[in-house]
Amino acid sequence: MPTFTPSTLSAKEAKADLLVLPVYEGPEAGPGVKEVGKALSADLLAAFTDNGLKGEMGESLTVPTLGRIPSHTVLLVGVGKKSEANAGVVRRASGRTAGKFSKYGTVATTLGLAARGASTEDAARAVVEGTLLGSYRFDRYKTEKDKDEGPKEVLVLGHSVDRKVERGVQAAVVVAGAVAWARDLVNTPSADAVPEIMADHAKALAKEVGLKVKVWTPAELEKGHFGGVLGVGKGSAHPPRVVELAYQGGRAGAAPIVLVGKGITFDSGGLSIKDAKNMETMKMDKGGASAMLASMRAIAELEVKANVVAILPLAENMPSGSAQRPGDVIKHRNGKTSEVLNTDAEGRLILADALSLAVEKKPAAIIDAATLTGACVVALGEDVSGAFGNDRALVREVLAAGDAVGEPCWELPLFKDYRRQLDSPVADIKNIGKPYGGAITAALFLKEFVGDTPWVHIDIAGPAWTDGNDLGPKGATGVPVRTVVRFVQDRAVRPARSRPR
Ligand code: BES
Ligand code: MN
Ligand code: ZN
Repeated sequence: MPTFTPSTLSAKEAKADLLVLPVYEGPEAGPGVKEVGKALSADLLAAFTDNGLKGEMGESLTVPTLGRIPSHTVLLVGVGKKSEANAGVVRRASGRTAGKFSKYGTVATTLGLAARGASTEDAARAVVEGTLLGSYRFDRYKTEKDKDEGPKEVLVLGHSVDRKVERGVQAAVVVAGAVAWARDLVNTPSADAVPEIMADHAKALAKEVGLKVKVWTPAELEKGHFGGVLGVGKGSAHPPRVVELAYQGGRAGAAPIVLVGKGITFDSGGLSIKDAKNMETMKMDKGGASAMLASMRAIAELEVKANVVAILPLAENMPSGSAQRPGDVIKHRNGKTSEVLNTDAEGRLILADALSLAVEKKPAAIIDAATLTGACVVALGEDVSGAFGNDRALVREVLAAGDAVGEPCWELPLFKDYRRQLDSPVADIKNIGKPYGGAITAALFLKEFVGDTPWVHIDIAGPAWTDGNDLGPKGATGVPVRTVVRFVQDRAVRPARSRPR
């Protein structure tokens, strides 16, 4: 991982193997382009146009400097319309560009300065975050690792070197590190991430950054009436766990924020088994738990002034002679019973227990993240998470946090009338509704277990995984770590009490 150094040097003064300069659509010169062009006695925009480039996101052109400035090579990078250039654009452009850094020892960049309206701190953050996320690779299982190590140092040019900018850079390194860890956990094959192993990761984190940790064993889950976690875990050779982590950065006794994450270490569907194609990527079904675990790391490392608890129900959903059957009835932590009509609607069953436990903490807010429904992907596509909540102000806060960090999230309704679809002839509720609106009925199921506690559910079934985008390669994305960390940070600055409702 490179070190990121904010620098007051201008583009033509900096000395690096690769100098990255933004070009707006037109093409129109971004920060540093005119200055460097003059020093090179070259019309860089003309060179861009000559190569058929317009300045759209994704375009780039390499230009040798022939010793006329201290930097060896210039990389002109399209960043799209000037009027739309914000921190998010800088983050994505930095992410894309990071893929081209591997053979350079040092890089200097003015990309952050392309963001209009962003504070210098936010702009620096966007460059660092984008660069780190964009260069993420998962090669643990490859015999031949990539030999190109990437740059040792990245100079973030044109920034006053003050405490704010340095803090922004440090925070970005921490958050990107947490996202990378979440990605690692999700990308890890399910055979190497069974519930016990996931719980061990949580214990190791607790020791490393100083969190309280409790891991509920199967016997304790039995005594604690976690019927959903036990029911889903029954078919697996690897018994379930529930992890509780607690971070105290706020006043002693102040109500915590509770983070709940779906941790199905593999979702075969159980006896309501999935077909081969739909099972291929189901190691991702631990995406919610992995993201909440990684968020706890970032929150602790950033020493955020808030009390935060994470609850991670961990189970493997497998078919076997000991698996739960369609038609079985289970009893959850809070005493409510569910009729399990489809064993593939397992996420809500483990979350029901976890949310019940969350409510017992008397939290200020509960946020859960879950790869819960294919229906949410149908509704919003692969890149947008669905958000549901029982508290308007809290939903707004979560959406705003997602917006600020570039993890798109859109509210879907907890439409009351659909609750009937979950009426069961034998139990308090059944675990599936009608074929359509499945993201909503799943959220309505969860709602039964949070009572009046302010709560937001984030369905990340789409965004947890990517075929490859600006901020990372094919595989896990680490969504919604950045949203959650940002939400908790915002809360620490302005607790809900002081907010206009
Ligand atoms: N883990 C899946 C949802 C999922 C689908 C996540 C695609 C990521 C990508 C979940 O457990 C599931 O199987 N949901 C079912 C629910 C249905 C049986 C009511 C679904 O969405 O089909
Ligand atoms: Mn399932
Ligand atoms: Zn699942």
